Amino acid sequence: MRLSERVRRISMSSTGAVFAAAAQLKAQGVDVVDLSAGEPDFPTPSHVKRAAFEAIQDDFTRYTPTDGIPQLKQAIVQRHARDCRSDYSTREVLVTVGGKHAIFNLTSALLQPGDEVVIPVPYWVTFKEAVHYAGAACRFVPTSESENFRVTADRIEAAVSPRTRLILLNSPNNPSGAIIREEEMRKIAELARRRDLLVLTDECYCHFNYEGSTPFSLASLGEAYREHVAVVGSVSKTYAMTGWRVGFCLGPAPLIGAMLKIQSHCTSNANSIAQKAAVAALGGPQDSIQDMLREYALRRSFIVEALNSINGISCNWPDGAFYVYPNLRGLLDARRVESTADLALQLLQEARVAVVPGEGFGTRDHIRISYATSMEQLEKGADRLARFLGKG
Ligand SMILES: Cc1ncc(COP(=O)(O)O)c(C=O)c1O
Repeated sequence: MRLSERVRRISMSSTGAVFAAAAQLKAQGVDVVDLSAGEPDFPTPSHVKRAAFEAIQDDFTRYTPTDGIPQLKQAIVQRHARDCRSDYSTREVLVTVGGKHAIFNLTSALLQPGDEVVIPVPYWVTFKEAVHYAGAACRFVPTSESENFRVTADRIEAAVSPRTRLILLNSPNNPSGAIIREEEMRKIAELARRRDLLVLTDECYCHFNYEGSTPFSLASLGEAYREHVAVVGSVSKTYAMTGWRVGFCLGPAPLIGAMLKIQSHCTSNANSIAQKAAVAALGGPQDSIQDMLREYALRRSFIVEALNSINGISCNWPDGAFYVYPNLRGLLDARRVESTADLALQLLQEARVAVVPGEGFGTRDHIRISYATSMEQLEKGADRLARFLGKG
């Protein structure tokens, strides 16, 4: 069948592909330790689930306004103002079917062929594909592993050309965990203002920060930068709600309006019941976030140390999120394995551990391991990795 040139420009998500391969093995009864999934292993908080039960009982089961129920838009704006010192109005928010959908709406609304988007490496797999789907091109910005993959404004500026429309940031970063320094963020915002660009800042992991500081958001910079900043967020990771599919975009009203136009012909509103649940998540008690963060911090220490004890692996301490992004160059050379994709396949088929190869995130020497899984699974996974890779 002849498919569109547009869809042939993109490929399946590499994280999704590993997830599917691991799921298939598990369905056959194989005991796979899955360290590939980018989702909290915690349950959705009870008060959030209760709000969903109530929504069903109250027959809150019809279409809602395409941009989301007013109560949820209000809750998003208030939560962001409180946590990130922004001052958006409800005209500047769109409720989407997960954060991914917000990114797709935004790239579709903003970009056209000939445009360029600046993206630091490593990057979350979907960024590149969303840009390509919109017909634009990516300008990748290298980061340095010795600086824990934190991008700097100078490096971003070096990649900006007359064709640049968008700078796409994600801090804390998936897959490296890097948190961009506040002073660099400020310089990037200044660059965007000077060159009349938009910065899309993906804040899906902003509450998972091991440095103890409150998350810095470009949206806190005030009126002068308002036209140049859009925020993507989601309840998926923050409240262990990946399956509920609720995300959002905060940004300039004309951009939000354009995204709404696309959404009105695509998904319409996010699920009505999930929207009620999201109101409870954003407006209710927030202690589940700290509970998860405390647990992630323990797992992070365990996995970083376990990986660094394997010959040929070096693993940085991630600043945030719930991934580690170890460098396996020494191992690849010693075992004469071509790529981390080949190694990941061996790990799945022989060691029964699912990890995501770095190629999809834009680097050749790394794999991504998620520690959003139980300590028991992590210990088992680390043990299998050490046995298999230790064989040399
Ligand atoms: C950096 C980043 N942004 C956005 C998302 C989207 O999450 P969701 O669509 O579940 O809100 C993810 C999910 O893995 C992510 O890692």
